[in-house]
Amino acid sequence: MNNRRCFIKKSILATAALTVPALPACVTISTTTAKVPMRSGRVDRALVLWYSQTGHTRRCGEVLAAALADKGIKVQAHDIREFKKQEKIDFDLLVLGSPVFYYDTPGFVKNFIRSLPDLKGIPVASYVSFGGPEGNQDNANYSILQLLSEKNGVPVGQKSFRSLSSFPLAWSTDTVHEKTWDARHLPDEQTFQSVRNYAGFVLGQIKENHPGTFVKKLTLREASTMFGPEWWTKLLVKNHHIIEENCVRCNACVKLCPVNAIDLGQYHVDTHACVMCFGCINTCEYQAIHMEYSKERVSGFKQFLEQHGIQPYLPPEVTL
Ligand SMILES: Cc1cc2nc3c(=O)[nH]c(=O)nc-3n(C[C@H](O)[C@H](O)[C@H](O)COP(=O)(O)O)c2cc1C
Ligand code: SF4
Ligand code: SF4
Repeated sequence: MNNRRCFIKKSILATAALTVPALPACVTISTTTAKVPMRSGRVDRALVLWYSQTGHTRRCGEVLAAALADKGIKVQAHDIREFKKQEKIDFDLLVLGSPVFYYDTPGFVKNFIRSLPDLKGIPVASYVSFGGPEGNQDNANYSILQLLSEKNGVPVGQKSFRSLSSFPLAWSTDTVHEKTWDARHLPDEQTFQSVRNYAGFVLGQIKENHPGTFVKKLTLREASTMFGPEWWTKLLVKNHHIIEENCVRCNACVKLCPVNAIDLGQYHVDTHACVMCFGCINTCEYQAIHMEYSKERVSGFKQFLEQHGIQPYLPPEVTL
């Protein structure tokens, strides 16, 4: 009975969150700012990290890293999954990027930040890529900065870059969701120019020793994160499994799954552990991941691009 009540409550909230336009974001529910003084006004070495599933956040990170390198800064840049745990982070700037998943920064990115050592006054900046436009992107950025400042990073900037949504349920019914289709060319050259400008802005804030104050606003999307929109999605997606005949055991899905829910030995997906990030279906090039939504087979990001002849724009700083 309790489960049923809980289900109904979650259903109503999730439906409201998906259908009602965002509340006017005017109520501040949390604020973050520097807890310690900024380390130095000079940036000789910078670390740019991101998590990326379908490449948007990675390309933004690479462009940002190139813009910093252009200013003579020595830059280390890579996906958080390639970042080896260190006792000490010896950089003059840390930039961290993430996609927005379910109106927030994904839990596994948050856990990565929690696992970092003390940042001891290093200036920190965040960015998110989002499918939006009502994707709660500012609050997702806030989540990154708040966690970094809890590690004694000094927040200097946050920025959101819109992209073609990588959320498969936006295109796996008869019609592609309108807002997804409208953003099919994003991120484009203009987006990447904002990324380059953002790098300049961050350096300016550090030079002027100007930490920022960042706020989280009350929005309907923000409220809905308390009721687990991924839980709701899991109820809508049926029959999630690996099609053994199609699978070439390339391991791409295993590497991407943030919760180790894929067992290739048994061709099994642990749907209880799954957090519905869609990484497996978005990555698989062989249509070997099966999911159903609204009685239709879900197609992954690569398949969607192929079907509609969409080619992601590659800025000059990025090779693939
Ligand atoms: C599971 C999932 C949930 C998503 N939720 C949101 C969201 O709440 N708000 C939003 O604006 N975009 C959302 N998106 C779209 C992604 O944030 C966006 O496409 C992002 O640029 C993907 O970055 P990547 O290519 O680096 O993985 C979601 C995508 C996925 C796969
Ligand atoms: S990505 Fe596709 S082909 Fe590769 S191991 Fe996973 S299911 Fe198999
Ligand atoms: S099994 Fe679930 S958590 Fe793992 S990659 Fe696939 S959708 Fe994401």
